[in-house]
Amino acid sequence: DKGGWSSFMAKEVSEEPEAVANTLRGRIRDGAVAIPELEGLDDLFRDISRVIVVACGTAAYAGMVAKYAVEQWARVPVDVELAHEFRYRDPVIGPDTLVVSISQSGETMDTLMAVKYARERGAKTLSICNTQGATIPRESDAIVYTHAGPEVAVASTKAFVAQITALYLLALHIGQVRGAIAPDEVAAQIEEFEAVPGKIRRILETEQERIEQFAYWMADTRSVLFLGRHVGYPIALEGALKLKELAYIHAEGFAAGELKHGPIALIEPGQPVFVLVPSPRHSALLHAKVVSNIEEIRARGARVIAVAEEGDAAVLPKADEVLRIPLAGPLFEPLLSVVPLHIFAMGLSTAKGLDVDQPRNLAKSVTVE
Ligand code: BG6
Repeated sequence: DKGGWSSFMAKEVSEEPEAVANTLRGRIRDGAVAIPELEGLDDLFRDISRVIVVACGTAAYAGMVAKYAVEQWARVPVDVELAHEFRYRDPVIGPDTLVVSISQSGETMDTLMAVKYARERGAKTLSICNTQGATIPRESDAIVYTHAGPEVAVASTKAFVAQITALYLLALHIGQVRGAIAPDEVAAQIEEFEAVPGKIRRILETEQERIEQFAYWMADTRSVLFLGRHVGYPIALEGALKLKELAYIHAEGFAAGELKHGPIALIEPGQPVFVLVPSPRHSALLHAKVVSNIEEIRARGARVIAVAEEGDAAVLPKADEVLRIPLAGPLFEPLLSVVPLHIFAMGLSTAKGLDVDQPRNLAKSVTVE
């Protein structure tokens, strides 16, 4: 039931705030992270020396975002691998490896096979999954469910923000168990977390119509590029994936620093480029670098659409359009900046008269390898 919305995707994007709130619920106690499903597993988290995330598609991008949080808060090294590449390269894994799988459906065959392979090699496995009782969680040593609610549209949206939420909770949990993060630092992150649903709601209220209008004007666009740095990089990849899936156009995401090593050759007059601008409050250096990337591509005629925090005045004169997100802690920006990109992809697909919920050639859950 679309509940009055024009598509399941429109409904599911509108549910992104609840996806975060519901995934947090019941997992925070007295200013600390307490995940009931992980009770009794402290030894497991104490004994690991590395984490490998395996997933496909959008879920893999959630894993790339989470790498920053697990390394920062839990001080455990993280690799993120596409599940279908993992078992074909004789990976170095053993009992000190925690393999974290991420899957909305819990049935993606590529991810399931990676989990089974990891178990056979003696690694510990933890599943981040949105579907109670699905195959992948059943095959895993531990489970942290995302509570995004059923996701019907093929392109994943609310599950993505729920996955990042669950992974961040897991990062804080591991950090607490290992004593890698101070209690007041945990409390500060929890405070950030609790503000996220309201901030996403604000983006939906203030920017959605504008972005849709803007997508409508861009209906003839044949290629869109996305640039991001740090946690903005996986969001650039996610923005591009959504456009491929939904609008059937060429779209590519790049790490902004990579621009000068190749992709800048793609810039010709009129090329639309989305740029995820990190907050200047967190790192003036990172911000300045991205602003200078904007100058470089603009000088070559790119049409720049910046996603920047409210009040970032430096971006305004440099970009053709600025989509605003509320202020958030450095690791929390992706939960906000992805929302305009989801709206844009949905808007462009709609503007082209395509089926937003059932894009051609794709299936919601791919149960073949
Ligand atoms: C794809 C879906 O084929 O599978 C994507 O079209 C999704 O939207 C990917 O991100 C992974 O699916 P799951 O269920 O394992 O998260």
